[in-house]
Amino acid sequence: MNSPTHAVSRRQALKQTFFFSAALALGARTTFVRAENIAAGGHQFLMVGDFGTGGKDQIAVAKAMQGYAAGLHLKPDGLFLMGDNFYGSFPEGLDSPRWKTQFEDMYPASAFPGPCWAILGNHDYDNEPVIKVAAELAYQKARPGTRWTMPAKWYRVEWPAENPVMTCLMLDSNYKNAISQLTPEEIARQRVWLKTELARPRTTRWLVVMGHHPLYNNGHHGNTEALIKDWGGLFQKHGVDFYFCGHDHDLQHMEFEGMRTSFVLSGGGGQSLHDVKPADHAFGMKVHGFTHLQVTKEKFTVRHLDADRKQVHAFSKTPDGKIEFLS
Ligand SMILES: [Fe+2]
Repeated sequence: MNSPTHAVSRRQALKQTFFFSAALALGARTTFVRAENIAAGGHQFLMVGDFGTGGKDQIAVAKAMQGYAAGLHLKPDGLFLMGDNFYGSFPEGLDSPRWKTQFEDMYPASAFPGPCWAILGNHDYDNEPVIKVAAELAYQKARPGTRWTMPAKWYRVEWPAENPVMTCLMLDSNYKNAISQLTPEEIARQRVWLKTELARPRTTRWLVVMGHHPLYNNGHHGNTEALIKDWGGLFQKHGVDFYFCGHDHDLQHMEFEGMRTSFVLSGGGGQSLHDVKPADHAFGMKVHGFTHLQVTKEKFTVRHLDADRKQVHAFSKTPDGKIEFLS
């Protein structure tokens, strides 16, 4: 954290205190999203992280996602599944009944007909009694017609297929887990891939990176220094617009002066919640919920919703990097 492109300085944090205070003055309160705010259209996605428990909170958030989309007469283009897709044991691997109960039926195609882009969390690396990572990587090919999309541990998405507005680089952030993780060789290979992808001429208005672990985090797990060191400078150099992650079981948003990237955490999908340290320069809430992305060429809007479908935080960003707080 000794390079100004990586470090969050006190000056940056102070600037952000003002930033978020201004938002508070606008009225940081929970509100329901109104259908007319969505009418501007664009591409719509829902995002959920740290959800794969099969328990009542996963079910409550999944139902809230369905109710939210239905209430807005919205069929999202796709879902982003931010890792910790299946907690615990997964004895039958590809044939586990959990595929149906905790994915196919939990987030049904009737509500979410589009692709469900998934990345690997630390709990997806649990390897007893089968290697869960292998099953998650194989499922898409083994079950033609499924919406589950995980073609590799790291991969690129451009959306929509025709005249894409958004590029997403989907990464594996599992540098250091309790049980198993990326090998040093994989970490090196992924970094070369990321560098190459970021260096390609930009073909879309928005450049987004997603990984399970946060770089910056005011919650339980804290910052991930290895990712700040490995990726932070690349995000700044190549003007990455957003980094989305999960891992902490809460909802967060951080902006830092001089950094092009907005850091958004969506980890409230169903696992027991984590405390978020109060930080003036950031939004954080210990709450179950999910996130709605609305993307046009002119504006990228991010909304955090709780399990009652209430908006608890929202902001939009224009291509020149300006942030507007909506609640
Ligand atoms: Fe996690």
